[in-house]
Amino acid sequence: MTSYVINNNKLTRMKEWHVPASIVSKRTVNPIRDVVYNMKVTPNPNKEYISLALGDPTYYGNFKIHENCIDAMITQLKSYNANGYVPAIGVESARIALAKKFSTKEAPLTPEDILLTSGASDALSLAINVLCNEGQNILLPRPGFSLYQTLSESKGIECRYYNLLPDRNWEIDLDHLSSLIDDKTACLLINNPSNPCGSNFTRQHLESILYLCENYKLPVICDEIYEDMVYGDSIFYPLANLTKTVPILKISGLAKRYLIPGWRVGWIFIYDHNNILNEVRSGLAALANLILGANSLVQRAIPDIITNTPQSFHDETNKSLEENAKLSANVLGKIPGLHIIVPQGAMYMMVGINVEEFKDIKNDIEFNEKLVQEESVLCLPGKIFHYPNYVRIVTTAPTAKLNEAYERIKEFCVRHHV
Ligand SMILES: Cc1ncc(COP(=O)(O)O)c(C=O)c1O
Repeated sequence: MTSYVINNNKLTRMKEWHVPASIVSKRTVNPIRDVVYNMKVTPNPNKEYISLALGDPTYYGNFKIHENCIDAMITQLKSYNANGYVPAIGVESARIALAKKFSTKEAPLTPEDILLTSGASDALSLAINVLCNEGQNILLPRPGFSLYQTLSESKGIECRYYNLLPDRNWEIDLDHLSSLIDDKTACLLINNPSNPCGSNFTRQHLESILYLCENYKLPVICDEIYEDMVYGDSIFYPLANLTKTVPILKISGLAKRYLIPGWRVGWIFIYDHNNILNEVRSGLAALANLILGANSLVQRAIPDIITNTPQSFHDETNKSLEENAKLSANVLGKIPGLHIIVPQGAMYMMVGINVEEFKDIKNDIEFNEKLVQEESVLCLPGKIFHYPNYVRIVTTAPTAKLNEAYERIKEFCVRHHV
């Protein structure tokens, strides 16, 4: 609908007010908002509310930012040098520091290969925007982070979901993935380690994915925002280290590893050994003008943050994540009616609901709603991740809260079990 009419080749504004929202805004849906905010139940007033739903490690205050990050920001604030506009692709000092820290023998980086963005969310938006046109399709994981769908559909890009296999630590079903590819497939998006699965791909599996991409000449958007957040025997392999031929846009940032999601710092690394992405590179630089990146203070603090925060800080974070994951798997794995896939990384665990074992719970939405209503515990239903009859649990709450929540989940399941 427009707010004008054309009569005899003359444009006449309408006489009445008519201000519709744009098509793009109407195509933009947030599945989390749709499911959680439209929930028609209220928590049990007699039980303290415990949320295991938000992928924000700072939520309960037990995962603390390192002092070095605070000092780095204070230094910038007091310098009077970090208040102005910055280049659209990000300040050079930060791009130099990132290139130095993340370059490897197999996948070297220069500052020109790096764009700073407003969180990994913005990086994903730019990457999807630069690789896909309206009418094309993008291959997304199922289960997968819902922002991929939101970003793609708002741009008129068709989402095709490839299956992850719970029985194989959430590896990609590569035959299914291949069956989705056609002439209109613009790129493959993979997320490793995964939200919501808490999985971490083996080197061999990553190589198989790359082999397929080489075969179909598919560029990859690789969301590695949880890079290095792995535990147990699991080793994280950056995808770009494993190929000399497949072009990759790697997405990452400070949000999770440095426990500062609110600071909104993300980046794109362009890996392109054979100059396939020359046009895409210029396209990204052009698109960066849409937002003008993360704020200037945090951009200028990046060299200090990534160079001087000690490895022991990351090790401690991973240790706590591992302990919480073990606790979650041990307790939830023994509850009747549930089955778990033990996580290897990130801060999530998918818990399957054997709906046939419950007398009055039909699906994950009902499980979630009744759990809130009766036990005041909030998880996210699998539907949000296109994976019904699972719930996603965020494993970052303090141990006492996790124990309390799991005790209530146990009582709930026993009560509703056949
Ligand atoms: C898989 C994944 N990618 C990207 C993001 C977005 O990160 P940021 O907060 O830096 O925008 C998240 C946030 O939860 C995520 O889980």
